[in-house]
Amino acid sequence: MTQTAEKTDLAQIGVVGLAVMGSNLARNFARNGNTVAVYNRSPEKTRALIENHGDEGHFVPSETVEDFVASLERPRKAIIMVQAGKATDAVINQLAEAMDEGDIIIDGGNALFTDTIRREKEVAEKGRHFVGAGISGGEEGALNGPSIMPGGPAESWETLGPILESIAANVDGTPCVTHIGPDGAGHFVKMVHNGIEYADMQVIGEAYQLLRYGAGMEPAEIAETFKEWNSGDLDSYLIEITAEVLAQKDPETGAPLVDVIVDAAGQKGTGRWTAINGLELGVPITGIAESVFARALSSSTAQRAAAQEGQLPSGTIKELDVDKAGFIEDVRRALYAAKLIAYSQGFDEIKAGSEEFGWNVDPRDLATIWRGGCIIRAKFLDRIREAYDNNSDLPALILDPYFKGELEGLIDPWRRVVVAATQLGLPAPVFASSLSYYDSLRAERLPAALIQGQRDFFGAHTFKRVDREGTFHIEWSRDRSLTEY
Ligand code: ATR
Repeated sequence: MTQTAEKTDLAQIGVVGLAVMGSNLARNFARNGNTVAVYNRSPEKTRALIENHGDEGHFVPSETVEDFVASLERPRKAIIMVQAGKATDAVINQLAEAMDEGDIIIDGGNALFTDTIRREKEVAEKGRHFVGAGISGGEEGALNGPSIMPGGPAESWETLGPILESIAANVDGTPCVTHIGPDGAGHFVKMVHNGIEYADMQVIGEAYQLLRYGAGMEPAEIAETFKEWNSGDLDSYLIEITAEVLAQKDPETGAPLVDVIVDAAGQKGTGRWTAINGLELGVPITGIAESVFARALSSSTAQRAAAQEGQLPSGTIKELDVDKAGFIEDVRRALYAAKLIAYSQGFDEIKAGSEEFGWNVDPRDLATIWRGGCIIRAKFLDRIREAYDNNSDLPALILDPYFKGELEGLIDPWRRVVVAATQLGLPAPVFASSLSYYDSLRAERLPAALIQGQRDFFGAHTFKRVDREGTFHIEWSRDRSLTEY
């Protein structure tokens, strides 16, 4: 083989793991003019990809890791799309073994960012580069343009950037991918993205619940309402697909599809990780955490059945006594407000994580690359980008002048909706808890002063004073005098 022939046969990028996400990503690379090396543990999947889609571009299939690595141009770049956890570790080790100094292993799965930090260290010790990249957009995004959040060393981005830009979604000429920061930054940001996605889906669910069982609207009518909402401030992929789901009839019975789906929400764990990390960092991500709890509660089948059978007392339930059109508009505004809080909290978590791990994540980058390709893509993200463009050090997203202005028009409807939900006996955990969060942030005095007093009483945990510096304690069990430490 001549040198030139060998060079043209080498692939610019490789994909390991050809289940749905991996094969769609490989096809996306190929369709965008890249020669793609492909490998899967079971060769049937590799063969199926070539048989069904081999004509979409230039693929180089291999049936061993060694052949796969040999088919890559240097520095070699291989994206792993296998099951998170042990499988990812196994494949990283195989690749690192077969690769050379300076080659790049990219984990495109939903790894926990602390695993990514560990893996980067281990791979770096072997002289290879490791990039943990969050990839959002589901199957469809992987094929037609996802939003990609790569972490890892900046020099890997130099090599990887152009090839990832070739497959990412694109909004107004800007690809939805950028280097997020070192080691676990990419997977961390993807984790919070998923947490925000949970909250966004939950607030949409709460709005649906209020319209359905509060205002007595049928799914098809609510679908129309969501379609209208999709042309305003709430314009987003999630609102768009909500209208589609609500308009769908069950092909078997003809009933609204939403009525035949069991109301127990599944989860793969990234929302839970976001909530756990929020707790660890001490960031009140109430919207995300309540959304994770709401899914867990929905799936507590036995307990829910017992609660229904035992007919827990409801107290006085009122009928909706306001005009329907006004209520629908109030619900829209409450949804917008609760969504705004969830995003503000998510960005707080990213800021705290970035500080904790020294990543230097720029929130503007996220608002930019989440505008397309991913599940939370929305017009709203343009506003978030503008907010951080105007002040990259905003203390909270909701304190941006534009969003503060929006909140002026949202707060009263939001309060009315939380009151209505309470009186109707309908659950609205994120609408309600977000409002409490908002009122807590605004409050001049919080009951935390009393809690400090209690802590000092039972545990001599001391307290600070509002009128002077220092640390103090009351001698509760003696003469109740003040001691300064
Ligand atoms: P998806 O969600 O995209 O359907 P997944 O369940 O996250 O996929 O991952 C499945 C992929 O991981 C498959 O390509 C699988 O390979 P096989 O087709 O041979 O089962 C791959 N995978 C799982 N465990 C693996 C391991 N220990 N080594 C290599 N690949 C593995």
